[in-house]
Amino acid sequence: MLDQLARGALLRTANFIAGQWQPAASGALHPVTDPATLRPIAQVPDSDAADGRAAVDAAAAAFPEWRARSARERAQLLKRWHALIVQHQDDLARIVSSEQGKPLAEARGEVLYGASYVEWFAEEATRAHGDVIPEPVRGKKLLAIKEPVGVVAAITPWNFPLAMIARKIAPALAAGCTVVAKPAEDTPLTALALVALAQEAGFPAGVLNMVAASRDRTPAVVDTWLADARVRKLTFTGSTPVGQHLARESATTLKKVSMELGGNAPFIVFEDADIDAAVEGLMVSKFRNGGQTCVCPNRVFVHEKVEGRFVDKLVARVSALHVGPATDPKSQIGPMINARAVEKIERHVQDAVSKGAWVATGGRRLRSPDAKGEGHFYAPTVLAGAKPDMVLAQEETFGPVVPIFTFKDEAEVVAAANDTPFGLAAYFYTQDPARIWRVAEALETGIVGINEGALAAEAAPFGGVKASGYGREGSRHGLDDYMHIKYLCQGGLQ
Ligand code: SIN
Repeated sequence: MLDQLARGALLRTANFIAGQWQPAASGALHPVTDPATLRPIAQVPDSDAADGRAAVDAAAAAFPEWRARSARERAQLLKRWHALIVQHQDDLARIVSSEQGKPLAEARGEVLYGASYVEWFAEEATRAHGDVIPEPVRGKKLLAIKEPVGVVAAITPWNFPLAMIARKIAPALAAGCTVVAKPAEDTPLTALALVALAQEAGFPAGVLNMVAASRDRTPAVVDTWLADARVRKLTFTGSTPVGQHLARESATTLKKVSMELGGNAPFIVFEDADIDAAVEGLMVSKFRNGGQTCVCPNRVFVHEKVEGRFVDKLVARVSALHVGPATDPKSQIGPMINARAVEKIERHVQDAVSKGAWVATGGRRLRSPDAKGEGHFYAPTVLAGAKPDMVLAQEETFGPVVPIFTFKDEAEVVAAANDTPFGLAAYFYTQDPARIWRVAEALETGIVGINEGALAAEAAPFGGVKASGYGREGSRHGLDDYMHIKYLCQGGLQ
């Protein structure tokens, strides 16, 4: 697919530091692989501490000039970047699909989703208002103004290789911060293409810097950023154990930190739900990106009175999903990202079956009929008879597996839904207005879908509670994570 790019120059395989495309200082490279075919598609720098430090040097040097620009000027550059992303959506989608595996139509959706954050924060840049505070004593003026925190380190995941980096970089740049970023080892090409468009949009050298690294060398880059007091903010999307490590290490230099971590989302179908709408909502939320989404339902609780109807309808839909490589226009579910991902799914399904669950559909690895190689494919799966002691009830499966738990009453299911250390998203379906408010308030998550499976929106605050992290991305709150408040008090005014 990469040979079909209309603009071949978007395929970048170098680091971008201080406005220059450059190899890793050591010259080391690491391969990027197509998860549908397992074939290498490119090589990118395998950066280490020297590259990480050079990126911070550049970002720190660029900060004074960038923060001094007017909000309007920063917004105009972001708008230009947004226009270029939209203009090159087909090429960007091809790059996303090639390295991440999601079907092309879904990849295009991700590109536009990511672009929407850039546009949103271009607009928010001009609204970073402060306060004029009524003075408590005469002769003084009190104000609170917002300032950019400084250099931001962004560490992003592979599941949405464009959208996740866009929704971190855009608010940082809008706020007047400069950025050092490291994309996931599996999906650096999308991030580098995005940087190529930022360069074309005209961001000054050093404002946005990106270094790629393999899994083995990532700690060398990231440790450099954690230890460097010039890095004033860390924003991370990924697993909870890694997030905990990063938060601990950020404490040494007291960085401002945002963490978008793992989830274990419940999806509850009450006895009074519109069953067709609930099945539809589950299909949308669970199978987005093949189930490799932090907010996608991991535990599906169905009232025992409607379980039969719900499962029958669900199985009919799930077994009709077309699994295949992104190159096949019929594909609705692509490959999983890598071998570790498929092994985890298999482990969860085997554990559930060994403890009494049964496979209503799927439950096995697939060799895609259309892929020429042995991709990381797994059949969309429904498991009935799920129980809380199964591993998939406690850990995020991150794949196309729907375990069905049953329940008898509202209090029991709310307690079960909250019985997890995680708190990112939850969903429920009911037609009872009083229950809507009761349950929405009782669920311990940062995001709740009510009779709705598609929650993603740049205008909405995205983020979790408990072990799912803190900070909010998108919305009018998203800029605050990249700014601090300065209090000004002027005296001698009488
Ligand atoms: C994620 O999986 O972390 C992001 C999903 C989204 O933006 O909806």
